[in-house]
Parts: sequence; structure tokens; C-alpha cells
Amino acid sequence: MTEKELRALLEDMSLREKIGQLTQLDASVFNDEGPVTGPASELGLNDDDAYLCGSVLGLTGAAETEALQKMCMAKQPHGIPLLLMADIINGYKTIFPIPLAQGCSFEPEAARKVAEIMAKESAAAGLHVTFAPMVDLVRDARWGRVMESTGEDPYLNSLMAAAMVEGIQGQENSYEDRLAACTKHFAAYGAPIAGKEYNNVELSERSLREDHLPSYKAAIDAGTAMMMTSFNTLDRVPATASKWLMRKILREEMGFNGVLISDWNAIGELIGHGVAQDPKSAAELAITAGVDMDMMSFSYACGLEKLVEEGTVSEQLIDESVWRLLQLKNQMGLFENPFRSASTQQESELILSAEHRLAAREVAAKTFVLLKNEDQLLPLEQDDSVAYIGPYIEEKSILGAWSFFGKTEDCVSIREAVEARGVQAEYAHGCGVLNPGQAIYGFRYDTESNLTEAETEKMIADAVALAANKTKVVIALGESNLQTGEGGSRGDITIPDIQKKLLEAIYAVNKNIVAVIFAGRPLDIRDIKDKTKSILYAWMPGTEGGSAIVDMLYGDTAPQGKLSMSLPYSVGQVPVFYSELRTGRHTEDGAEPTNRFLTKYCDIPNDPLYPFGFGLSYTDFSISPVRLSSDQLTLDTTVKAVATVKNIGNREGVETIQLYIRDEFASVARPLRELKGIKQVKLEPGQEAEVEFEIDTNMLRFYDINMEYKAQHGDFTVWIGNNSKTDNSVCFTLN
Ligand code: NOJ
Repeated sequence: MTEKELRALLEDMSLREKIGQLTQLDASVFNDEGPVTGPASELGLNDDDAYLCGSVLGLTGAAETEALQKMCMAKQPHGIPLLLMADIINGYKTIFPIPLAQGCSFEPEAARKVAEIMAKESAAAGLHVTFAPMVDLVRDARWGRVMESTGEDPYLNSLMAAAMVEGIQGQENSYEDRLAACTKHFAAYGAPIAGKEYNNVELSERSLREDHLPSYKAAIDAGTAMMMTSFNTLDRVPATASKWLMRKILREEMGFNGVLISDWNAIGELIGHGVAQDPKSAAELAITAGVDMDMMSFSYACGLEKLVEEGTVSEQLIDESVWRLLQLKNQMGLFENPFRSASTQQESELILSAEHRLAAREVAAKTFVLLKNEDQLLPLEQDDSVAYIGPYIEEKSILGAWSFFGKTEDCVSIREAVEARGVQAEYAHGCGVLNPGQAIYGFRYDTESNLTEAETEKMIADAVALAANKTKVVIALGESNLQTGEGGSRGDITIPDIQKKLLEAIYAVNKNIVAVIFAGRPLDIRDIKDKTKSILYAWMPGTEGGSAIVDMLYGDTAPQGKLSMSLPYSVGQVPVFYSELRTGRHTEDGAEPTNRFLTKYCDIPNDPLYPFGFGLSYTDFSISPVRLSSDQLTLDTTVKAVATVKNIGNREGVETIQLYIRDEFASVARPLRELKGIKQVKLEPGQEAEVEFEIDTNMLRFYDINMEYKAQHGDFTVWIGNNSKTDNSVCFTLN
């Protein structure tokens, strides 16, 4: 449609139709009982209102989406097509590792590849927009949704956010055979107090701007078509009602001009927050704040018309929001072809194709983090006699809590992959994922252990008997898929007790233990660290998880992942992250054990068990001292920081070299160090490479005492290393 035709359409629409466009309904509304039941009917809505909606979420399948599209278009006065959206987070049917694991690849190209494939599969299944990427900065491992983010660092998250948006939307944001991206959750949703789900956020404006906003900005600059508001408050104002956040920061300062949608019932929750009295006043707050579309609260549908009639809200405000939505539908070509790429043939060709499965296997290999490898227990030899023990040896719920459309039966377990390899191996469950009788209530299904204590005792005994006569044990442990994701906040971030008991029993008879950990968050794995020689942190690895793990166990691939979030020593440390602010009493961990008056705990270390950026390989690398092209930088020059990296082991490997910088003196307290560059090198044994970073003043900017974003003159320390604790540093001065 031309812009003129689109304008004419808008002008011809009734107010009711316009409000319909701003309403998003869940697909379940259109079930056999007729569209409007439950909360919607209580608010006085009827079936006609439902058919006027501008968007539906949660329905997929070329045939199903086509049918719904046809039905709704036929009932709309102007036949406006629906925008079909769903949560495609780490894959549609071919499921990739969870986003937090993708962060561990430190490789935006890997995230782009995932985004491309998931967009292609779901475009064929009739979708138009995915509620992804989730770019919230996360530092509190108690929060269940850390799995949906790429981690604790603003720089890494920004690279990942941009790559994901580009991958979802395709070349030059053409959306061709792809989707539009709906970046979420604006803003700072990843910082709920105490890691508690749906909790509020209390942040300084500097932290908001420097730590949290960059990844949303990167998504905007990459062209994200949509943005979702967050549930939380910021400075005591719910984001969904914050004019300052949405109009001033998001639109005016950050330049976002796409469609802004609320999170699920977030407009309705303004009542719960105590800032709105009823759906109508909630609708007034949200539309005034600039929220274009209401996801499933029905507040717009039942409140906006009255607000316009009373003159509280101008119709122009409604028109602005409708215009943004119509523009998106038009850009996606929906007026010409409301079914877009939906095609049953494409579905059968693309979904879970050999190419997509291979990509899932390759990406997974980049996300596993080798945390320890004593006696070089890994990789295993082909003829090692191995006992494969633990609940995750056969478990297929390894897709991540947000994989709504992926099926566990399409997934390869560790056992299946080992069997396919034909190596010597025997298997024992040992115990269930959960403690006997434990239940977790999910958001689409519940899971509970049907095993009794007695049955588990017997299983442990069988596993011990098996482990006792094998040279090596691979034990696959972890938290349940449902202990993470939305509603998955935990106060105890260890593996279930029954699994600890299993590990202890195995350790008593065999010390050659490799642990493979499945998790949606950084867990407290102190117990596991003590009782194993090798640990491979596999996260929730997706459809090809088992194959990718077994490839790595036997050395077909080598570990290269780096932690995208620090692994805490214990839950008492969280939030723990490498870039914390300096204090007046900072101390290096363990440096002054007898001085109690320092920034530290009395009973646990300050340092996490494994720091951000950490991860081993099957080979070793040396990194030379940092060389600078000059130790003086000016506002319009750059300095090159170089180090030589050498593979000093006897296998090929990939190393991720990281550049960190600290501002030594500034008008406000600055972080201990900040990640400013990433470079990956692949080296043969004995091979070396120069790794070079260019430092300019843009990297040194921050919100100074006057809230001006600029670099201040003075001294800086720069580190080049392979994790955030490296001490390989030199200094330079900004003149
Ligand atoms: C609520 C979640 O917070 C959001 O991330 C998700 O996209 C929506 N529900 C839709 O499922």
C-alpha cells in the first residue's frame, strides 16, 4: 500500500476499529467456546470486539494461522490483517541453546545464525513477529529469567542484541522469509529486587543508562520493529505507565519509532501496582505514556473509547499508535499478502531439517563452558570404559523453559548420542532430576518426581555398582527445566539434594568423574567442583544437545565457551558480577584476611567460583604482556593495544581474547573494570597470533557528575586476557 492509501485507511476507520487494532489477544480466546469468555466478557467485551483485534499471540502453523487470519479479516470492516506473534526465544522447532548459553559463545555470529533459523522456521509456520530478543541485563542468578538474556555485561549484550535483531529481521530489515523482532522488556526488567519474579527495580539513573539501556539501544539501532514494556517499576513508576521512560528516553533520546507493546496484562497490572484504579484509568496512563498496544489486559478495548469521548485522551494520540501499527503491517507486506511466508510445504522442508539440526549442534558446541579439567580427564578416549550416570543422561527436557513449540521427542539425549557413536558405555539413571516426591508447577505443564525414596536408594546403589568398575564416570546433573524461566526464581541455586547424594555416592567409589551440568542459570556448584575432575557446563543446550555434548566429550569438538554470567560461590554473593563499582574499602579477594573493615564478607570469598569471561579449552594459550602503540591518548587519536596469543598445548583450539578498561580517577565512582572488546582466535598447536584492539575515547565515556556522557582526562588501566580476572595490564593517560 502507498503511504497515501494507508493514511486514507486510517482516516476511514471508526474509533472502535482503531482501538481494536491496539488490542492483542491470546489465540486461546478464539477457541471453540467462542471468542469472548472469562475476563474479557466480565469487562463487557463481546465477540465483535475480539474480531477487531489487531494482533493475536501464541498461534503457529501455516494452516492454523491462515485459517485465523481469514476468519478475522472477513469480520473486520476494512479487512485489516492480523499481526501474528509468539514467543520464539531460542528456536521454533529446531531448538538452540538458551540465550544465556548463546552469550557464552561470545560470538554474535552464532546468535545471528540462531535468530535466522528460528525466524525462517516460524515465518513458514505463519508467524510475523517474535517476542525476542530479550536483552535485559541480568546479574542475579536467583531470577529464573536470566536464561533468556545473554548475560551480565552491557557490551556483550549489545553485540548479541544487534546480531539477534538482524538475524530475526533479515537483510536490511526486509523481514523477507523472516520475522519482525519485538525487543524486550523495556526497561531494566532484569534487575528485580532480590531476584524475585515480577518484583520492582530500584536503580540509579547512571546504572540504568550505562548498564541497562545500551542493549536496548543496540537493538533499536539494528532496527527492531517493536519493543515490549516491562512489568517492573523504575524509580517507583511502573514502566508501562512511565511517560518519562517511554516518550522521553525510548522515543526521544533513543530514537525508537516502532510499535511499543505492553507485556502480558502489564496495563491491567497498573491496578495491582496501585497507580490506577480501574482498567479505564490504567488505559489512560499507558496510552499517555506512549504504549501503542495492549497485550491481554483488555484495558484499551474497554477503556479507550470512553476516554476519547470524555476528551481525556485525544483521538490523535490513538491515531499515532494505530499509524505505527499499520505502518508495520504495511512494511511486512501484509496488506498484499496477509499469509506472508506461511506454507505447509516450507514448514515440512525447513523445520528440523538436517541443515538446521547441524546448526543447532554446531552452535551448542560454542556455548559449553569447560570449568575444570584435572588430569586432562577430557576428552575421553574412544576405548575408555565409561559409566554414564545421572538423571540427565536420558533426559530430553533440555530445551529451555521458553521452548513452547519445540518437542522433547525431537531431542537427542546424551545416551542416544553415545549409543550412536558405538563406544563402550553402560548407563544408570541414579536418581530423578527432582527429589523424590518433589513437584514443580510449570507454565504449560507441571513436572513431578514419581519416584519414592526407596526406589531412589536402589537406583543410587545400582549406579554406584556400575561406577565402581569403570575407568571413568560421566555424570549428568542439573536443575530442572522448570526451575528456570518465567516464574522460576529460586532462593536455593544448587542442584536438587538427591543429585548431590548421588554424586557423593559415586565419588566414594570412583574419583575420575566428569560432570556435565544442565542449567538455566549460574548455579552454586561448589559441591560438584569438589567431587569431580572435569566440569562441562552445558546449560539447556537444545534439540541437538546430546549430540553436541558427546562430540565434545570425545574430542571431536573442543570447548571454547566463556561464562556470560559469573558463577557465584554461593547464593549469598548474588548479584555478583565482575564490573562492580569501586568502593572506599575495596580489597582483592583474600588480600588482607585479618582486616575486617573492608568491602567483603566474613564467611565467604568476594570472588565468584568462576568469573565472567572464564572458560577453558582442551589446549592452553599463553598471552603476552600488553603492548600499547602509545601511553598517551587524546580526544581525537586512538591507541592500539596488542597482545600475542600462542597455542602452547597440543590440540587446536579457539580462544576468546577480552579487552577490559578501568578509569582510575573520575568525578563519580567507576567500575573496577569494563569489557570493551572481544576477539576470537583459532590456533593450531604452536601457532601464535597478534590480537589488536583500538582504544578511542568513545570507549571511555560515562555519565559524569553533571550527567554528561563524556570521557574525563586522566589515567586508565587496560587489560588483555582470557577472563575478567586477568592481571595482564598496562596504563595510559587521556590528555
Ligand atoms: C510475559 C513475558 O514476560 C513476555 O516475555 C512474553 O513475551 C509474554 N508473556 C508473551 O508470552
